[in-house]
Amino acid sequence: MAMVKVGLVLFLCYASSFFFVGMKANIEEDKDMGKDLIHNMCMRTDFNDLCVSTLESDPRTDLKSNPRGFIHILIDRATVNATDTNNYIADLVKKPTDKWTIQCLNWCYESYGDGFRVLKNASGLIHFKDYLGYSVLNMNIGSFHSDASNCEWCFTEFIPPHKSPLTSRNNYLGNISRIALEIVNLIECNQIEYCQEAIMVQSHGLGRRHVTVTIIMVAEISSRLG
Ligand SMILES: *[C@@H]1O[C@H](CO)[C@@H](O)[C@H](O)[C@H]1NC(C)=O
Ligand SMILES: *[C@@H]1O[C@H](CO)[C@@H](O)[C@H](O)[C@H]1NC(C)=O
Ligand SMILES: *[C@@H]1O[C@H](CO)[C@@H](O)[C@H](O)[C@H]1NC(C)=O
Repeated sequence: MAMVKVGLVLFLCYASSFFFVGMKANIEEDKDMGKDLIHNMCMRTDFNDLCVSTLESDPRTDLKSNPRGFIHILIDRATVNATDTNNYIADLVKKPTDKWTIQCLNWCYESYGDGFRVLKNASGLIHFKDYLGYSVLNMNIGSFHSDASNCEWCFTEFIPPHKSPLTSRNNYLGNISRIALEIVNLIECNQIEYCQEAIMVQSHGLGRRHVTVTIIMVAEISSRLG
């Protein structure tokens, strides 16, 4: 019985992938953008000004001429700034403060430490060629983005809420990684939100999201079969 259900799930995934392939648009082949590429891309993200200033201020002209280069620049910026932020945290924990703040600072330090590794992995996936590559890259940058929001959340979750000494840094790192994530999505499916078709097609691989989706589908089918 279990075999039958898995077979059904895979069939649904294949069916969906056929359905979505036709909808794929490729912004990388959009020649109209020309030298306004940075402005046109950034305008579509949630943080236009930060996006334009980050990309324009980078000295590497080769990276500034294509969307994958933009992701490269943004990942580098996030890595440099997260390193600086961890040095800043290391100084803060030496100063006298309350116990909760210290715990959050230590926790943020650890998660940004993991964040470097994740970003390093992401750098190797900038030239992703298929849905699996896309979704691992998306997951990696998304995980760094969560590090920034979780760090901020750690301080504010406390009752009474504590003032976060890292708000501007967490905002910056969260927003930079958000822009990178949106450009990855724009490349994959021409929208800033997570590309739904990848969830379906990804069922060939072993991504975390795929497992979740498959389990939901199995549950749905099981319940329909009674
Ligand atoms: C790191 O990247 C590789 C591909 O370059 C991928 O297969 C792997 O799953 C990634 N690791 C993590 C932890 O995301
Ligand atoms: C990182 O970003 C924060 C917040 O914008 C800023 O204060 C800090 O100087 C930046 N550090 C580096 C090395 O870019
Ligand atoms: C980053 O995003 C937060 C909200 O998500 C916003 O309050 C903040 O001003 C943004 N910072 C920058 C530098 O864009």
